[in-house]
This record gives sequence, C-alpha cells and structure tokens, in this order.
Amino acid sequence: MFEALKQLPQDPILHLMQAFRDDNRPDKVDLGVGVYKDDAGHTPIMAAVHEAERRLLEGETTKSYVGPAGAAGFNESMARLILGDSNNLVHDGRTSVIQTPGGCGALRMAAEFLRLCQPGTTVWVSTPTWANHMPLLGGAGLNIREYPYLNCETLTVDFPAMLATLEGARAGDVVLLHGCCHNPSGADLTFDQWQSVTELIQRKGLLPFVDMAYQGLGEGLEEDAAGLRYLAGQVPEMVVAASCSKNFGLYRERTGALMLISATSGINTAATSQLLNVVRSHYSMPPAHGAAIVETILADDALRAGWQRELGGMCERILGLRHAFADALAPVGDFGFIARQRGMFSFLGITPEQVRRLRDEHGIYMLESSRVNVAGLNDQVLPRVASAIRSVM
Ligand code: LMR
Repeated sequence: MFEALKQLPQDPILHLMQAFRDDNRPDKVDLGVGVYKDDAGHTPIMAAVHEAERRLLEGETTKSYVGPAGAAGFNESMARLILGDSNNLVHDGRTSVIQTPGGCGALRMAAEFLRLCQPGTTVWVSTPTWANHMPLLGGAGLNIREYPYLNCETLTVDFPAMLATLEGARAGDVVLLHGCCHNPSGADLTFDQWQSVTELIQRKGLLPFVDMAYQGLGEGLEEDAAGLRYLAGQVPEMVVAASCSKNFGLYRERTGALMLISATSGINTAATSQLLNVVRSHYSMPPAHGAAIVETILADDALRAGWQRELGGMCERILGLRHAFADALAPVGDFGFIARQRGMFSFLGITPEQVRRLRDEHGIYMLESSRVNVAGLNDQVLPRVASAIRSVM
C-alpha cells in the first residue's frame, strides 16, 4: 500500500532547523525557527516555569486522565489572560476554553469544528501568513482564500487592499487574523484598523478567528490583546487559538488553548459539547504537564509576577534588538520598519539568492522568504549579521 506514496518536500521551517543543527561552524547564527533566545543565544526555561515544575513534581499524586477539555483551572486562567480579568463575556457564560496540544492543536480543532458547523466553510487568511496555517486549516477540509495583507515594497500593512478584498467575503465566511506579532511579517494592525475590520466583519456577517500565538511579546500582555478584546466585545461569535509556546517558553510541552465565544450561554454549551466530541475523535485528551505549569503560575501571585517580569524583559529585549538591527542596516537602506514592527519576525526584503549566500558564506540561517527571527540576535552576533547582510546587498 505504501509504495504508491511519493516523497514529500520537507517543511521549510523544520528543515531549516535541522540544517542549522547539522552545520558544524561554531559561529553559525540561527534566525530561522521562532524561538526566543537570550543574550547567550540560549532558549531558557523561564524561572517561574522551573519553580512551577518543582512544585508539581513534589505535589503530584496521580497520572489519571484529565478529560477532553483538559484542566478546568488552566482553561479559566487562559480565558482571563486572553480576554482580561473582568470580561463580561466570561461572566455571561458566552465563552468556553479547552486545553489543546499547542496552538497547532487549537487551530486544527477549530478548523474541524468549523467544518462540522458548516461543511464547505471558507476561511480567509492573510498573504503572507504562517506556513503551517494552510495545512492545519486546509487539511480539515476548509476552503482557503487569501486576502492581501503586506505591501511587499514597503513591508507595511496594505490595509485598503485587505479591506477591499474582504468586502468580497460572503456571510458565514471565516476571517483569520493574527492577534499580535504577525507571523511572518511583524506588521500588526493598529487599534483603529482593528475597529475598521470589526465593522466590516459585523456588517458582512463574517466569523472572526484570531490566532494569538505571541501574547506578551509585542508590546505587553494587555496591549497585545487590545484589538482581539475590542473585536470580541462587538461580535456574536468568535474563535481564538492561543499558544503558550512563546510567552511561557513551553515549546516542546505542546500547550495551547481554544476559545469559543457564542451569542448566548445556551448556544455555547451546545457548541462546546460538539467541540469536545471532535477532540475525543482526534486525540481524546490533551497532554497535562505544560498546562499544569501555566495553571500553577497564573494561580500564584508571586509566580505570576515573576513570570510577567521575565516576559516583559524578553519583550523589551526584542524591541531593543529591533532598533539596533535597523540602525546597523541603515547604511544600505531604510530598515526603520524593523524597529516599528512587533514580535519575533520581520522580513528583510532580500532575495532567496542573497538568503542562500548568507547561509553558505556566513552561516546565518533565515527562511528563504527572508523572514528573520529578531529574537535570535544578540549584542555579540548582531554586528556580524548586519555586516554580512550589507555585504550581500
Ligand atoms: C515559527 O513560525 O517559526 C514557529 O511558529 C515554529 C513553527 O512551528 O513553525
């Protein structure tokens, strides 16, 4: 049976990760996969995570099943993290959150759920978007359409083009928005633009679906959620996929959450029962460990404060690197957009051939599209990376 299968090309991000690992050059620089790195080029375990794990190991008494929704305490904490502490939607019973295996699990379960709600659903995604959005959503049977998002000349949001295309969406279509730190461009919507796109979504009867993978790494936990919270307050229904990979540094623990917002609490109860049935038929129940860490941190004032401080420091460091990087590239062009963008990623706007030369001649790894993970830079490597980029331009 298997002999009919053709060899597939490798996933571009995962392939780059492996190529970097296989490179023996001691001065290689990884600006590829989206993981945070500290000044020493290391992806640290956050101090609050360490402490929460210690407490969990000491206090854990069972490994029995958790159930398809995951841990109730984690789900409640995530609702408050995403929507804010005193959001009426939570108090009115119009929301439910389930724990998922990473943000990917949330995206895929959302897609399966949306297909169940309405077979043949169309989901509009930004051009460009995170490469894995296509297989995660398309693989569940959703039709994918694209709306223009980034002006490739200026590397800024082309908001008129985005709105003009979404005017062509039909009632019941789904619009995927990046909550903050747009992956791959780093170009985010302003609050005014969130308001305008909300107006369009309401007027045309579209369903907003927000991917919140980087909350806290753009401008701060509250600031990064402002657009999402405004949108949630205006629409009857919404879907949110959240990830704890980046803001808790729990990448390999596969910790995420999927939130449904429904028009009434009664509808929400029914919708959630359907969602849990979808989960049961896919992976049955999510892994426990990462969510237990998040729950422990968010439930303890001291741990939470420490986590917020460390996350704030990561966010500040990325912002500082953005400014330093834009300045270091200034001799060969206007890279001010890097300083204005948010989160881990920006495009350099260089050609695939220039990207290849950076890898082959200088050991500097980035995606072929020229997406760089700014958080992979540090004070030691930044001058050399900037000089190498200047030399290939
Ligand atoms: C990325 O975009 O590099 C990250 O989200 C990691 C991944 O799984 O692609």
